[in-house]
Amino acid sequence: MVSLLSLLSGAAVAQAAAVIAPRASTTYPAIDTALTVSTPTATVISEIDTSKSTYDRLTPMVGGEPFFYNGIQLRADKLQEQWGMSDDAVAEIYQMVADAGYTHVISQISWLNIQPDSTFNATKSTYIRGGTSAELNFGTSTSVKIGYHSGDESNKMLTYVQFNFSSYTADDIDAARLRFYVNLEATSDTAFIGTLYGITDNSWDPSTMTWTSGAPNHDGVDVTGTLNGDYFVASSSPSWDLLQGVQYYDFDCSDFIKNHTTDGIASFVLQAQINATSMVGITMDSSRGTHPPQLVLSSKSTWDWTYLDKLLGWIEAAGLKCELIWFGTETTGTTMDTRVPYHVFTHTKNYEVASDGTVSAVMLKSTEPMYGVYWYYMDKNDLTLRALEKSALKTLFNYIGARDTANGSPKTVIGVEVANEPAFARFYGSAYTPWENPETWGRLSLFASVSDFAARTMWEFCVNLANGVKESDYPVWTRTNDYTSTDAPNIVYNELMRADTAVGTSLDFVGLDPYQDSRTFVYNFGHENFTLGQAWDMSLGKNLPVIMENGGSYSDAYALPIAALAGGSFYDVYEMYGPDNFGLYVPADETTGNYTPVARGSYISPVIHNNQFFNKMAVDLATRQSIRAGGTTLDFYNVLGTNDDITGTFGSVGITYTEINGGAGVSIVRSTNELVIGANSAATFTLSGIVPYGIASVQKGAYVDNVWVESGSASYSTSGDNITIELIAYDVIRILTTTAV
Ligand SMILES: *[C@@H]1O[C@H](CO)[C@@H](O)[C@H](O)[C@H]1NC(C)=O
Ligand SMILES: *[C@@H]1O[C@H](CO)[C@@H](O)[C@H](O)[C@H]1NC(C)=O
Ligand SMILES: *[C@@H]1O[C@H](CO)[C@@H](O)[C@H](O)[C@H]1NC(C)=O
Ligand SMILES: *[C@@H]1O[C@H](CO)[C@@H](O)[C@H](O)[C@H]1NC(C)=O
Ligand SMILES: *[C@@H]1O[C@H](CO)[C@@H](O)[C@H](O)[C@H]1NC(C)=O
Ligand SMILES: *[C@@H]1O[C@H](CO)[C@@H](O)[C@H](O)[C@H]1NC(C)=O
Repeated sequence: MVSLLSLLSGAAVAQAAAVIAPRASTTYPAIDTALTVSTPTATVISEIDTSKSTYDRLTPMVGGEPFFYNGIQLRADKLQEQWGMSDDAVAEIYQMVADAGYTHVISQISWLNIQPDSTFNATKSTYIRGGTSAELNFGTSTSVKIGYHSGDESNKMLTYVQFNFSSYTADDIDAARLRFYVNLEATSDTAFIGTLYGITDNSWDPSTMTWTSGAPNHDGVDVTGTLNGDYFVASSSPSWDLLQGVQYYDFDCSDFIKNHTTDGIASFVLQAQINATSMVGITMDSSRGTHPPQLVLSSKSTWDWTYLDKLLGWIEAAGLKCELIWFGTETTGTTMDTRVPYHVFTHTKNYEVASDGTVSAVMLKSTEPMYGVYWYYMDKNDLTLRALEKSALKTLFNYIGARDTANGSPKTVIGVEVANEPAFARFYGSAYTPWENPETWGRLSLFASVSDFAARTMWEFCVNLANGVKESDYPVWTRTNDYTSTDAPNIVYNELMRADTAVGTSLDFVGLDPYQDSRTFVYNFGHENFTLGQAWDMSLGKNLPVIMENGGSYSDAYALPIAALAGGSFYDVYEMYGPDNFGLYVPADETTGNYTPVARGSYISPVIHNNQFFNKMAVDLATRQSIRAGGTTLDFYNVLGTNDDITGTFGSVGITYTEINGGAGVSIVRSTNELVIGANSAATFTLSGIVPYGIASVQKGAYVDNVWVESGSASYSTSGDNITIELIAYDVIRILTTTAV
């Protein structure tokens, strides 16, 4: 069994992938012919201003105001599920994000978070055994067993298990499964089929029953009674998930639970494959074991906002904004059972039948249940599933809207990533041939290639989800993030559709998770076509270029965001703190379970100061395109640390930047008599020829909500018509002239 755990960091894993060649839109027929792009009818909370009419760059807008996009990811799920951190400890990390000067935090919300399944541990269990054990009771054992050997009565065993779900309060039961934990490898390592029967007799007593007395519905190892009267076949192990190794095994029991249980009590018998001619058998945890059998009930119509309220509560307490990452059916190429309610899986086709009749799983199974046990590859062209997931996102954002209104409209949620590192036809970690579901791949023949089909599929899948957000009462910008070797990069096709006025798009932008620790790389990101396995042009069309995830562990992390801005893109860090080991902070001592966060290195203080430096001129950084990326009023100096581009202009005044400690500088021409300069390390700026225009003031300070707030005067020296201003690190200085330069 492949260990999936190591493959699931937030980081992209380098893999070979098919390059998708963009084609004209006419060669891409619709898969869902009813799909159109939704536009909001409710007041827009956030959007990307792509008009370049008010501002000369693509500008993120929140509540009608420019928003400086400078974020970091914080995976509260991982902090709690993997590190066991308390709510209070997680709340403190959000506060650290705010104190570190980030304008927003990016955190996950899964479908399972808002539609949690209800889990019931077995209340009773035992097994019975024939032959020499026929009179023995195993009701106090921490294990239960099933087994069969045609010639050996002593090796025939049946397991009985009962659940009491009378406390279940959800509106409906749409689906149910029973999960057993196999705690010992199968006898002789022989894989076999288990069959789960539901029985209507709930009166059996595990403390007394034996093979010969008190055990209902059996005659030896045969399950007996009236089929579909007092016993029912719930399900059997599929060929790709035979009982064998130590791990969890699920049996669907939706129909039995829905149709044949009353008063919230359900009894089951699990039986080993009884046609085996040599011994088959396995041992599972009983209701007394460490991993008791569990009944999982899933409701389609019940929503639970407890987790979301808690998450947004942490974020609001820290005074942060957030982008949500939607963990639905598509996260890093898989549909994980820890992120998606069980009812969704029962609507997912999870096997394929080859032309020769061979049945195989469209599923991987993890032995590391931290990230779930069953990973399905959802068919992104299954329109039933698409509709279900769109409705979930719309319901989520309707709730967020109602919550926002009730809380005085803080507009905490400013955007959503509708799919995280989505992939078309492959699980992370194992190459996977595109799965041709005969029921939904009927339109493949209309496409010139599987690549074309992939591009269209991925676009429709993402737009369908984005539509759910746009149609909600709380429309925010929608985005995805690709990873560098994905098999279906979305950007080219999304821009093709956006450019086609008859089509358009509701997917506002596509970012990339490059994981590149190079100033030159992040500088090029916002304005150049670059190659990382395949060609990427993140500034294509009207796409807002954003580095979505880049390591917080990089020692150059303080210098990368300004290089990104200079190149025309925005920048997000992966991550503040967390088990993926990309964080700005690391645990004080993970081996002893001391999860007090400590700065990973001496570069963290500059990272924080750099953010605070940006915030002194946030609106200008949000709204002005860098001159290096085609703008006219925002200039950067020495962002690569190679004395690159150290001269600029303020009208006819020349600007010369001289670094002292290797840092980068910035200048902003706000008007014909207002210049702003700053540097993230000690530096001097010489403004040549400025004196004749009259120096009205030279002040140190910051723009707060785009209004200058002075914090002191700044000294400068004059030499002829020139002035030279000395800056200490993170200074922002405003120079006003008495006449227009
Ligand atoms: C089920 O049992 C496990 C293991 O004993 C326990 O950790 C868990 O809290 C139980 N769950 C419920 C819902 O009682
Ligand atoms: C089921 O659990 C409820 C409490 O949730 C209890 O009142 C009831 O007696 C239980 N039923 C059985 C058959 O154990
Ligand atoms: C349960 O009921 C549904 C709808 O009434 C029916 O389609 C299904 O076959 C039933 N299943 C069982 C196991 O009785
Ligand atoms: C036993 O029965 C199962 C299910 O009925 C079948 O798939 C399998 O091939 C049979 N095995 C043998 C050895 O007959
Ligand atoms: C980007 O580079 C690739 C490969 O070099 C090329 O096919 C593509 O046309 C380029 N795109 C743009 C927008 O220049
Ligand atoms: C003013 O600056 C310009 C450009 O750097 C330089 O050529 C000139 O010599 C300077 N003048 C004085 C008086 O320092």
